[in-house]
Amino acid sequence: MTFKKIDGKNIAAELRMSIKKLVDARLTAGLSKPGLAVILVGENPASKVYVRNKCNACDEVGFYSLSKKLAYGTTESELLTLIDDLNNDPAINGILVQLPLPDHINEEKIIEAIDVLKDVDGFHPYNIGRLALRMPILRSCTPKGIMTLLRSTNIPLEGKEAVVIGASNIVGRPVSLELLMARCTVTTCHSRTINVKEHVKRADIIIAAVGIPAFVKGDWIKPGAIVIDVGINRLDTGKLAGDVDYNAACNNASWITPVPGGVGPMTIASLLENTLQAAELQNQ
Ligand code: GUN
Repeated sequence: MTFKKIDGKNIAAELRMSIKKLVDARLTAGLSKPGLAVILVGENPASKVYVRNKCNACDEVGFYSLSKKLAYGTTESELLTLIDDLNNDPAINGILVQLPLPDHINEEKIIEAIDVLKDVDGFHPYNIGRLALRMPILRSCTPKGIMTLLRSTNIPLEGKEAVVIGASNIVGRPVSLELLMARCTVTTCHSRTINVKEHVKRADIIIAAVGIPAFVKGDWIKPGAIVIDVGINRLDTGKLAGDVDYNAACNNASWITPVPGGVGPMTIASLLENTLQAAELQNQ
């Protein structure tokens, strides 16, 4: 089987370019720059990198970005006050609180405090509920990016067997809803699933979001399947590895995303799309 690589890095770069053109057109029309506030609480090293990359991407496409770096000891009520201020700030169209938050802060409470039209992560129960009911507005970024990658193959999704490994609120659950909306037959595997391998073996589309390097073996993949690897695992060697045994998977897959350069850049590109959409929704 010859496989094709789904080049997320390139697809994301093209998306950023088209967003930049739309921002330029907004400015020419006398409209404001879309504005994104990114909040980081604490010193999680991976989160710091993600936040920096998100702000750099905003600069690249001409957005206004506001980075709020708060101490680990920030209280829940201080964070809620900041969100309230940002909800009421007309220069800010999107609010992103980088997860995970410190244990003393209730994540659900924080997410629910964000104005649903500024919820550019698409994590608010309102936005997840809209997706579940097939009328999405702001869609979770990684799942949205995955759907853009799947659509880039031009393979019809309708009727396909899709198996999602992982049931997190950030990826597994919303991507399962996205695939259902695209009329796939969807199975969501999680930590209590019996015999994940047997589920994966019948999949036309595999979404691996478990966080375990090379969890999905090459011989689990049905010949011709599309493989989307969401994992970004740092090995002891310092190298990044996905949740799929990439080299072995290439023997069976028709299309596959690499790590790095697959899903990762699409999360940020989708965040930019959502921020522009949020500015349009807020009619500015
Ligand atoms: N932590 C890991 N992924 C994400 C994401 O997409 N958004 C936010 N806010 N936090 C995350």
